[in-house]
Amino acid sequence: MSTIAITGATGQLGQLVVASLKTKVPASQIVALVRNPAKAASLGVAARTFDYSKPETLAPALAGVQTLLLISSNEVGQRAAQHRNVIDAAKKAGVQRIVYTSLLHADTSAITALAGEHNDTEAALKASGLTYTILRNGWYTENYTASVPGAVAGGAFLGAAGDAKISSAARADYAEAAAVVLAGAGHENKIYELSGDQAYTLSDLAAEISRQTGKNIPYKNLTEAEYAAALKGFGLPAPAAAAYANFDAGAAQGALFDDGHILSKLIGRPTTPLATLVAKALKA
Ligand SMILES: NC(=O)c1ccc[n+]([C@@H]2O[C@H](COP(=O)([O-])OP(=O)(O)OC[C@H]3O[C@@H](n4cnc5c(N)ncnc54)[C@H](OP(=O)(O)O)[C@@H]3O)[C@@H](O)[C@H]2O)c1
Repeated sequence: MSTIAITGATGQLGQLVVASLKTKVPASQIVALVRNPAKAASLGVAARTFDYSKPETLAPALAGVQTLLLISSNEVGQRAAQHRNVIDAAKKAGVQRIVYTSLLHADTSAITALAGEHNDTEAALKASGLTYTILRNGWYTENYTASVPGAVAGGAFLGAAGDAKISSAARADYAEAAAVVLAGAGHENKIYELSGDQAYTLSDLAAEISRQTGKNIPYKNLTEAEYAAALKGFGLPAPAAAAYANFDAGAAQGALFDDGHILSKLIGRPTTPLATLVAKALKA
């Protein structure tokens, strides 16, 4: 029996990966690697304690695991070291393949604040000698649709991405791709650039919100500094506001665009339409 383990399994992406993987392999083959096993009870698979920042605990938790999905940590700034801890432990524990969630076009991305740690991890994976698959995930559409209620309340969708095209996809689409790659063969030492089928601008997104609500919600493009100030005004801590504004400035340079359609090829269906996720955000 081949065991597949998933880190970050209690996170938003991880939960969806476990659910999708359960449709492809028996639940008994899946192990959730989590900081807090109590939080993993609803996943319906075995859970083991796993904290990227506690290196000595990692290799024992990986005993008997053949395939590992390393979901990138959300602790920006500590991630390169944390991911190196996991890769070292996987090697020690005899893991055969690591699947890693990286960033779209990590090697050339204008979103340098995020790309650096992903590039470090990709390099560590290649240097490890382990078989790897790198899933360079594009933006989650939910990153933008989370602002839909605020845009409706405020009468405009704010951003700093100009008229750049954005090829985001639903978290569930990326999760399904991860499950396909974990359960299947032929993905050895491959790097996949994953993005949504339907590229849109933030004006297109605002138009879709307007269409679904029957209200006029225009897109208002701001400079990076103006957008950071606006986000801070909405109550975001200054560093987070600056980071989100910087991501949009990267988007303005095309960092979130890709037209390879590899994600839909992997999952065997079109990625979730923008309109579906806007409707979901309006119902929330
Ligand atoms: N493509 C995109 O648009 C996008 C957007 C945001 C983030 N990301 C990246 O993609 C990852 C997955 O996205 P998501 O939406 O699932 O994020 P999320 O909901 O924040 O989940 C992050 C997961 O990482 C786990 N984690 C954090 N620090 C850890 C540590 N020290 N040891 C072990 N586990 C740790 C968390 O554990 P707990 O459950 O215990 O908290 C959580 O399960 C993020 O972590 C981030 O690297 C991508």
